[in-house]
Amino acid sequence: MQNQNVVITGGTDGIGRAAAIQLAKLRVRLLLIGRNPDRGEAAVAEIKRVSGNDAVTFLQADLSLVKNVQRAAQQIRETFDRLDVLAHCAGNLFPRQRTLTKEGVELSFAIQYAARFVLTNELLDLLRTAPAPQVLSVAGGGTISGKVDFDNLQGEKSYGFVEAIKTTSRACDLLTVEQIARYPEITFYNYGPGLVRSGQIVKNPVMRLLMNTVGRPFSRSAEQAANDIVALVRGPYASGFYVSSAKRNDAPESADAASCQTMWGYGQTLAAKLSAAAQHVSTVSLAALRRRSARRSNASASICPSLGTSSPWRPTVARDPSGETNAVAAHFTPKETEVQTFFSDF
Ligand SMILES: NC(=O)c1ccc[n+]([C@@H]2O[C@H](COP(=O)([O-])OP(=O)(O)OC[C@H]3O[C@@H](n4cnc5c(N)ncnc54)[C@H](OP(=O)(O)O)[C@@H]3O)[C@@H](O)[C@H]2O)c1
Repeated sequence: MQNQNVVITGGTDGIGRAAAIQLAKLRVRLLLIGRNPDRGEAAVAEIKRVSGNDAVTFLQADLSLVKNVQRAAQQIRETFDRLDVLAHCAGNLFPRQRTLTKEGVELSFAIQYAARFVLTNELLDLLRTAPAPQVLSVAGGGTISGKVDFDNLQGEKSYGFVEAIKTTSRACDLLTVEQIARYPEITFYNYGPGLVRSGQIVKNPVMRLLMNTVGRPFSRSAEQAANDIVALVRGPYASGFYVSSAKRNDAPESADAASCQTMWGYGQTLAAKLSAAAQHVSTVSLAALRRRSARRSNASASICPSLGTSSPWRPTVARDPSGETNAVAAHFTPKETEVQTFFSDF
């Protein structure tokens, strides 16, 4: 992997940092993303020291905001002329209460789904310049059973942190299946590390004690998870779902084509709406989106019959052959009269 360009979101702590250390030893060029500059600089210094590799840099960005994800993508494009590996490790595992970002998106969903969706899409061209580009997402690896509730993706109806973890993991599963279908020139891994002694799990003193005692046999270290990540990107492995020890897992049963396309449409709509807001080009209220979606829902009932007709997202799905046209944004070009309160309906 020598001289490959690798971006790791959340590369400053936990699983991401452990993977960064191992990859630095393989002489790749690394760019780590995180919010906290002190943590970022400390990680860079440590990784350089233990690996002897000086090609390690830090990019400060809070990826819970789509506008920051887009800015980070621009900075990555300015840093690298080719991207070999994009590893999504940023995440927050235990948001105890439902929290909305400044853009009005539920925090877990923002980091673990929206950021991954947008960053990957923004970097497709840069990835395609690499001979064998790879995108890896640390999530559930297809292990979380159950359907995605499209009307409660952001905890709108009910919220609990376990439910939030399950929902974002399932959403990532659907995203992976859709990405594999759309971009066969890129290898996509959805990797579920199992229970890892990192992040919020060990920051809480009681949890740390539990994990280092009774929970130890059931959990793994960040380094073990990193071993799997490095094994996958060193390859050769096919696109798909992987769990501990880089074992292949089946694609989740719930990832039927209609659900995957619906999830993709949801991501596109959200990204289009938030980037429009960020650029002050135009805005459209979610209420208007819902009204328009409801009008189209009958026409597209066959796309995803499991959803109720009230779902605002169902009719937004439009698979375009190139995979890049923003079909949803095109659908929802707002009229002047619809430009009203942007986030009021979240
Ligand atoms: N630990 C587990 O058992 C487990 C199991 C399955 C899946 N996962 C997933 O694996 C990923 C890594 O987990 P971990 O245990 O290694 O977590 P961690 O130790 O808490 O590390 C999280 C990393 O993400 C960064 N980060 C968090 N929020 C961010 C944001 N808004 N923008 C940019 N960077 C952000 C953190 O840096 P800053 O705080 O400085 O931003 C840090 O570098 C997460 O997505 C998690 O959901 C973990």
